[in-house]
Amino acid sequence: MNTRIKLSIDQKHLDTILVLDFGSQYTQLIARRIRELNVFSEILPWDISKERIQKLNPRGVILSGGPESVISANTPRIPEIIFELNIPILGICYGMQTLAEQFGGQVTPTKTKEFGHASILIEQTSVLFEGFHAGSSIDVWMSHGDHVSTLPDQFNLIASTSSAPIAAMQHSQKPIYALQFHPEVTHTKEGNTVLENFVLKICNCQAQWEMGNLIEQRIIDIQERVGDQKVLLGLSGGVDSSVTAMLLDKAIGKNLICMFVDNGLLRKNEAEEVENLFREKMDLNLLVIDAKKIFHRHLKGVSDSEQKRKIIGRTFIDIFDNESSKLKDGINFLAQGTIYPDVIESSESESKEARVIKSHHNVGGLPDDMKMELVEPLRDLFKDEVRKMGAELGLPLEMLNRHPFPGPGLGVRILGEVTPEKVKTLQNADAIFIEELIKADLYDQVSQAFCAYLPVKSVGVVGDERRYADVIAIRAVETVDFMTATWAKLPYDFLAHVSNRIVNEIEEISRVVYDISSKPPATIEWE
Ligand code: XMP
Repeated sequence: MNTRIKLSIDQKHLDTILVLDFGSQYTQLIARRIRELNVFSEILPWDISKERIQKLNPRGVILSGGPESVISANTPRIPEIIFELNIPILGICYGMQTLAEQFGGQVTPTKTKEFGHASILIEQTSVLFEGFHAGSSIDVWMSHGDHVSTLPDQFNLIASTSSAPIAAMQHSQKPIYALQFHPEVTHTKEGNTVLENFVLKICNCQAQWEMGNLIEQRIIDIQERVGDQKVLLGLSGGVDSSVTAMLLDKAIGKNLICMFVDNGLLRKNEAEEVENLFREKMDLNLLVIDAKKIFHRHLKGVSDSEQKRKIIGRTFIDIFDNESSKLKDGINFLAQGTIYPDVIESSESESKEARVIKSHHNVGGLPDDMKMELVEPLRDLFKDEVRKMGAELGLPLEMLNRHPFPGPGLGVRILGEVTPEKVKTLQNADAIFIEELIKADLYDQVSQAFCAYLPVKSVGVVGDERRYADVIAIRAVETVDFMTATWAKLPYDFLAHVSNRIVNEIEEISRVVYDISSKPPATIEWE
């Protein structure tokens, strides 16, 4: 069995806020907001063990919202250990309701579920609302079906709204607070002030979570762990593995071996760009494996999308295994660009906790006799923190702000069978679209944009001749989390220009269509 270790800052020296997760879609946002205050925060499921909480040694706890109703039986509750720690607590939405219920208050269903803007009235001065006067109002964001209808004993009302008379409450002796609204979402105008009051004034946390210190600390951690041994990293050219590479390079230099597998399904010139950046400019120890032919041979005749995904994943693992076993010197560590959302998404609750290895960096098939320990220096960082770290480490902005690209690459953007010819056509069309988006200052305004190849013969007229050729679909979406997305309303003139260029410059294409489907029901990728 591979021994797995993680590299992370020594949490004992950092003031930490625990975000106890009851399943809200906003849980990660709470932790990110706290970190934006330069205070470390960690998310743990509500049913996590007592030992894990004690080990984290938090200075305060935030109870997240959640989809359940405390009125129903067998729904999540705050574990006793949270109260035994005698540290400040802030309940949000479901967190408030279970807090009220556990202290003997009453929670009842709201007549109509409340989603959206509301105005709360500050009823009483409180450190939580420092900066606002009693009698003033704040615009907030509500999203709830139940509300606290009777305050528990020992709790005072500190804010109200017309629809949720008990919008915020505070314990009369202990630093326990609760809010029915969501301070973590940007729609709550003064939400950051409320969170800042809790974290800095009520929990008295020191703002020590800073990028400069963090990079230095991580480098020391890596050096202590790895010493003068060698580390192998599967570099995909994406943000996470690139930042991992830069950090490891700073820590161990040439003892880091980066392996980049060119699967023949990348964007135009991508392999050359990765090679140029990491080997030429950054002087990293980079091995480029040209596996285009192998991938295309394995994909020949396959048109089912799930099958293609499986083949691409398996071929990647085979090549990675094969190539790493060829490296003569013993390599004891394997680095991965796992980031915090990958870890959280795989641990919904304590009982269901499972580790997921990112599909593109998937090296789960490495032979056991390689005995490699896992190094994941970004394991507790959010994407925006990884980007910030990358910028400080000198990675170019174009690379840090590049749209996400799926692991199976163009393999899932060519509908049906993948051939080297179709890859080339799609690469050219996609490059035109992206080049025009950048030129028109639209690239950063959309979250993901690309072309898909539709093997549908459609008629066109070139000169006097009718020409039957394939179709390119243009896709651009706006999204925050990629779970839902809306199609981008790109200007018609811009779309017309892109379409003209693609049809005129690429002989194999006779028609361009714009995808106006949102997610759900459509997905972002076509396959
Ligand atoms: P969908 O198509 O599911 O995509 O709406 C959501 C996001 O995930 C990316 N995606 C993938 N990434 N392997 C990956 O590494 C995959 O098989 C895969 N399929 C979709 C997609 O590009 C989008 O950002």
